[in-house]
Amino acid sequence: MNNFWDDSLSGFWSTWIIVISLGAIAISAWLLFANRKTDKAPDAQGNVETTGHAADGIEEYDNPLPRWWFYLYVGTVIFALGYLVLYPGLGNFTGVLRWTQENQWEQEVAYADEHFAPIFRQYQEVAIPELAKDDEAMQVAERIFLNNCSVCHGSNAQGGYGFPNLTDDNWLYGGTPENIVMSLSNGRNGLMPSWQQLGEENIENLTQHVLALSGHEADEAKGAEGAQLFASVCAACHMPDGTGNPALGAPNLTSDVWLYHRPGQELADSIRETLRNGRNGHMPAQAAYIGEDKVHLVAAYVYSLSQKDD
Ligand code: HEC
Ligand code: HEC
Repeated sequence: MNNFWDDSLSGFWSTWIIVISLGAIAISAWLLFANRKTDKAPDAQGNVETTGHAADGIEEYDNPLPRWWFYLYVGTVIFALGYLVLYPGLGNFTGVLRWTQENQWEQEVAYADEHFAPIFRQYQEVAIPELAKDDEAMQVAERIFLNNCSVCHGSNAQGGYGFPNLTDDNWLYGGTPENIVMSLSNGRNGLMPSWQQLGEENIENLTQHVLALSGHEADEAKGAEGAQLFASVCAACHMPDGTGNPALGAPNLTSDVWLYHRPGQELADSIRETLRNGRNGHMPAQAAYIGEDKVHLVAAYVYSLSQKDD
């Protein structure tokens, strides 16, 4: 293909841009040469030419431009013309190098794929518990984690409000290699319905029961009422004993590890808030962003973090 024109712009706008760009350069060059003076010797009377401007009796000399400045200016004009020949800038003209942002990006991606894909593929063949012990692999994996996961889970992977801590032994969806790979590949969606319709009194009773479940001080009478309601409405997801269900991502309510508890907030308030409004934690599927090979590697990293506690 030796046609250097594309049709990204209509003919009118393309021409318009070409005329304005080249016109501006031509005017700059003209301005420079039209005002250039080379002769600055005083005349026979010793007078030096002035511009005719005067302020408070001080006149402005009309001296030539410094030579270095003049050549620098000429240089910029030549640079501009050279640039416009090589790179896109003049309307639909692609530039003789045919550079585009897309093909530069594609080249970089192709380069990275070619160089790094074999490394990831090699890790892919190692089982996760074993890979988690490979220090070199874990360094690469940490990079991937920092680039893709730390925005939500924190650079230390300890999570935050609404974002689970990945370094403990407490799992919403289970901590086996298979569970972790599933969390990463397909993402997760935790859905806790709102219980507003039960009324404030029941919400208070349930809150006291949940506090008791996790070993906190609670109102006994309200807690007992709450326990009955819990068995009929909550147990389906959180299990009768409150230990949760990883198939649904229903948290263990007896562990005293909280997904939704802001620092400084009363725990009871945060439980009431959960019950009134419901919760819907969303972890986006990662396979589409980073590919299966990297999912495998970073899953091993997450697995290694939880193993360190033991
Ligand atoms: C946009 C924010 C976000 C990003 C990015 C993100 N996560 Fe998550 N992740 C979450 C949320 C929120 C949850 C909890 C979902 C829920 O409440 O059901 C979660 C859950 C998880 C779980 C399940 C934890 C458990 O206790 O079972 C794992 C494992 C995990 N993320 C790892 C990762 C890794 C590794 C990455 C990067 C490749 C990542 N996440 C990127 C928000 C994110
Ligand atoms: C349909 C299943 C389901 C039912 C029924 C359900 N929950 Fe949940 N619950 C969840 C899920 C899933 C989450 C996690 C939400 C998330 O990941 O964003 C959750 C979260 C919570 C939390 C927040 C835990 C934390 O770590 O911050 C509390 C407290 C809670 N539920 C209590 C209850 C109580 C009390 C009831 C009964 C009134 C109840 N749940 C009924 C599924 C359920």
